[in-house]
Amino acid sequence: MVRRTILITGGAGFIGSHVVRRFVNGYPEYDIINCDKLTYAGNLENLKDVESRGNYFFEKVDIVDKPAVAALFEKYKIDGVIHLAAESHVDRSITSPETFIYTNIIGTVNLLNVALAHWKDSFDGKLFYHISTDEVFGSLGQDGLFTESSPYDPRSPYSASKASSDHLVRAYWHTYGLPVVVTNCSNNYGPNQFPEKLIPLAINNIKNNKPVPIYGKGDNVRDWLYVEDHAEAIDIIFHRGKSGSTYNIGGNNEWKNIDLIRLLCRVMDEKLGRQPGTSEKLITFVTDRPGHDKRYAIDSTKLQVTTGWKPIPDFRKGLEKTVDWYLANTEWLENIVSGEYEKYYESMYGNR
Ligand code: NAD
Ligand code: TYD
Repeated sequence: MVRRTILITGGAGFIGSHVVRRFVNGYPEYDIINCDKLTYAGNLENLKDVESRGNYFFEKVDIVDKPAVAALFEKYKIDGVIHLAAESHVDRSITSPETFIYTNIIGTVNLLNVALAHWKDSFDGKLFYHISTDEVFGSLGQDGLFTESSPYDPRSPYSASKASSDHLVRAYWHTYGLPVVVTNCSNNYGPNQFPEKLIPLAINNIKNNKPVPIYGKGDNVRDWLYVEDHAEAIDIIFHRGKSGSTYNIGGNNEWKNIDLIRLLCRVMDEKLGRQPGTSEKLITFVTDRPGHDKRYAIDSTKLQVTTGWKPIPDFRKGLEKTVDWYLANTEWLENIVSGEYEKYYESMYGNR
């Protein structure tokens, strides 16, 4: 049994909490250190079920604070990093880009520098795994898919900051030999996602009979992946990924926003015992997001062929599981909605 001490950054967030849970439960021989600043998006409620486990440790640390990151490496003798901490919402990056630059770029550089300083005598058994997004590739036309060799063309402050961090991670591999892997993943959905993102926002609004805002004509396309499939891919790549490599992760599941929301409305009508067609009436077209990328879609052949990983095939089932979770966890949702989210919602949508 190989003992390891793994630092997971952003573990209190949406995807991070699923990764932490998977590693804490699946690898009792590993110590899992969750380092999170607990921004509006970080919520320790997401990890209630694992917080008392002996191999789980939480540290409230801002990755922009380099001495704090260095102290963490000193205290725990970290030998693997899975880096998810980030500012992650495109709309927020349009209104306040600076935080994205600090956390997504400077924060990543701090982690790289501290990892390099601690590991430079021997890279044996060490890995810096950087989690990124398909948004770095820009926007696709009607056809084609993003592959690992697609050129970078980020078009929002969020995707530009993630692109910058991806380049830096690869630069540390080429320049210093730091063992790294990078993955670029499509849109995730599932339990614990903060209700500023499309699917949980729509679930919450439909539940409360509020308008569901669709940007522009609703014809933008995203490739949706169930969050536990992403966590599984991260687990596989952390253990079997080739150092210096990039892997694309996607759901093979493209949907126009309007079609996705219509399907979600049908699921919500069923779950809430409403007349078919009731929730669809809440759909409201609003002003488009500036610079709104038209289409994202991932070719994850490399990952599938080299590891056998596959996403769940049935989107409706994933959506139903997600809706069930939000309807069963009203306290989780209400805590968020009554706090920071409320202010955010007001500024974005005038509290419609
Ligand atoms: P999230 O916003 O739900 O969570 C981000 C977490 O990072 C939060 O817990 C937050 O408190 C923490 N954090 C933010 N700034 C920090 C700082 N300065 N120091 C320490 N912690 C900080 O995000 P998510 O959706 O779970 O995304 C996680 C990662 O996956 C991000 O890197 C994102 O770019 C990437 N990603 C997300 C998606 C998606 O669809 N959500 C898709 C592909 C890639
Ligand atoms: P989002 O969940 O913010 O993810 P991303 O911008 O990272 O892809 O948005 C998904 C899609 O849904 C995107 O095309 C923007 C659109 N959208 C709406 O139409 N209405 C909304 O209220 C939100 C939050 C997003």
